[in-house]
Amino acid sequence: MGNRVYEKVVEYHERTKHHYHRYARSAGHMDWQNQPNPFRVYKNADTFSLPFLEKDPGKGHMSLYRMPSAGPEPFTLNNIAGFLELSLGLSAWKASARGKWSLRMNPSSGNLHPTEAHLILPEADDLRAGIYHYNPLLHALELRAELPHKLWQTISAHFGTGGFLVALSSIFWRESWKYGERAFRYCNHDAGHALAGISFSAGLQGWRTTFLNALSDDALETTLGFNRTDWLPREEEHPDLLCFVSGYHVQDIPRYLPDNIVEAFSELPLAGAPNRLSRERVDWQLIYETAELTRKPTTAGEKYDLSAIPFLENARSALSAAEIIRKRRSATSFNPDGVIDKNRFFAILDKTLPRTGCLPFDIQFGNPSVNLLLFVHNVRELERGLYFFMRDTKDLQSIRNNFHPDFVWQQITEKLPLYLLQSGDFRHEAIQLSCHQEIAGFSAFSLGMIARFSETVRSAPYRYRHLFWESGMIGQVLYLEAEAQGVRGTGIGCYFDDPVHELLGLQDNTWQSLYHFTIGLPVEDPRLTTLPPYSHLENSRNK
Ligand SMILES: Cc1cc2nc3c(=O)[nH]c(=O)nc-3n(C[C@H](O)[C@H](O)[C@H](O)COP(=O)(O)O)c2cc1C
Repeated sequence: MGNRVYEKVVEYHERTKHHYHRYARSAGHMDWQNQPNPFRVYKNADTFSLPFLEKDPGKGHMSLYRMPSAGPEPFTLNNIAGFLELSLGLSAWKASARGKWSLRMNPSSGNLHPTEAHLILPEADDLRAGIYHYNPLLHALELRAELPHKLWQTISAHFGTGGFLVALSSIFWRESWKYGERAFRYCNHDAGHALAGISFSAGLQGWRTTFLNALSDDALETTLGFNRTDWLPREEEHPDLLCFVSGYHVQDIPRYLPDNIVEAFSELPLAGAPNRLSRERVDWQLIYETAELTRKPTTAGEKYDLSAIPFLENARSALSAAEIIRKRRSATSFNPDGVIDKNRFFAILDKTLPRTGCLPFDIQFGNPSVNLLLFVHNVRELERGLYFFMRDTKDLQSIRNNFHPDFVWQQITEKLPLYLLQSGDFRHEAIQLSCHQEIAGFSAFSLGMIARFSETVRSAPYRYRHLFWESGMIGQVLYLEAEAQGVRGTGIGCYFDDPVHELLGLQDNTWQSLYHFTIGLPVEDPRLTTLPPYSHLENSRNK
C-alpha cells in the first residue's frame, strides 16, 4: 500500500514536470469569464472590521529572524489585527490601462492567492471566542462558529498557556484555472510563503508560531467545520496546517489537539456560506487524487532541533522589520548590469539557514530537506558560475555522490557552507531553464531549490506537500532579505525540471528541484501606478 501511494505521488510529480518540448497539462488559454474570485467571503456570517495598525512595530531588521528579547505583547484584538495586517493583509493596489488589482503581504503564483486563513480565537476585547475566517480585502473577521467559554478553557488548559490558533487552507481551483495540473505544487508553495509570513509577523508581536505536527488533516477539517460546509464542487478549501501562536518564551507546545476537543468542534453550529468563486469550474482530477494521496494522517508529535550557527553579523539594514514586510514585491524585470555586494549576497544566503529559536524555520515543521543550487551572475568579487549552498551540511556527501563528478566543490568562505561547482557564465542557461524567463539571467543571481525527494516522499507521502512548503518558506525569506539588502526577488514556479537535473548530473529522483528564485536590481514598470492597500475602504472605514 505504502509503496503504491509513493509511486502515485511520484507519477503526479513526473507528469507535472515542464519539458522543453511540452509543458505540464493546463487549459492552455485564460478563460477570463471563469477567473476565480481571489477573495473568499462567508456570506451571512457576522463580520468584524479589524483596526489597522496606528503605528508599525518599531523593531529592526534582525528582529525578523531573532526571537524577541522583550514582550510578548498581549493577545488583544488590536495586536491580533496587526499580526494579520502584516502577514496576510493587502500590501497595495496596482493600476494600469488593463485595470486594477490588489497585492498582498504574501506573494502568490500568478497573484491568484489559493491560500485562506482561519483563526480560532479566545474572547478578545469585544470579540467573542470563535472560529473566524480572515477576509484580507476588508481586513475583517467572519465568524463561522462561536466557541462556548468552556471549550476555550479546555483548549487553553491543553496548551497550558495563552495564545490562539491559526490555520491555512488551499482552494486548488484558483491556481488550476491558469496552471492546470501543476497547480497543486504552486498551492503548496503559496502555503509555505504564507506560513513564513505568519511566523515573521507573529515574531514582531513577541509571539512564537508552533506547527501542530502530529495533527491529521481529517482532524483539522473537522475542527474548521470544512466537512460540514456546503461547498460548490471544486471550490472547497483543503486543510493545510494548524499552528498555535503563543508567547515567544513558551516552548514545547503540544503538537496535537486531543480527540475530545476535535469532537467538541464537530458539534458547533456553523454560520456563513462560502461565496461562489467562478461561474464554472474545471475538474483537474489529478490534483484532487494527489491531494487525497498526500493527506496527512495522525502522527507522533515530533520535536525538531535545528542548528545553533550564529548569524553573520554584517549587512544590517536601516529599514525596520515592518518596513521590509510592507515593501516586499516581485520584480518583473531586472537591470542586467545590476551588481550586488558579496557581503549582501552572503547575508541573504545566511538567513535561509534553519536555526533553533530563530524565525521562520523553527516552527517545529521538520528537519531541513532543501538546499540551494545558485547561478551567480553579478556578485561583486565572486566569479560567475554555478554554486551550491548546503542548508543542511549532513547532505553534502549524498549530494556529491549524486552530482556530476567533475564539479570542483571549492568552499568559498569559512563563514558559510557555500561551494563553487563550476565557474562560467550561466546567464543563458538560467534563462533557458526557467521557461525562458529573462528574470532568471538578468539578475544578480538566481537559484533552484534542490530537495531530498524520494526518501522523504517514500517514508511519508504527505511530506510531498511539506517539501513545497519548505521551499515556499525559503522563498519568503529570500523575498524579505532581498528587500533588506536593497535588491528585490521573484519566485519562479515555471522551470524545466529535468533539464535542471541534467545540468547537475542527477540520474534519479533522490534529489529534485522544486522551486526557483531570482534576486537582483529591479527595474520598475513605468506603466503601473501604485495605490495604498486599503484606499478602497476610505469611505466606509476610518482609513
Ligand atoms: C510559488 C510562486 C511562483 C511564482 N512564479 C513566477 C514565475 O514563474 N514568473 C514570474 O514572473 N513570477 C512568478 N511569481 C511571482 C508572482 O507572480 C507574484 O508573487 C504575484 O504576481 C504577486 O505579486 P507580488 O509578489 O509583488 O505581491 C511566483 C510567485 C510564487 C509565490
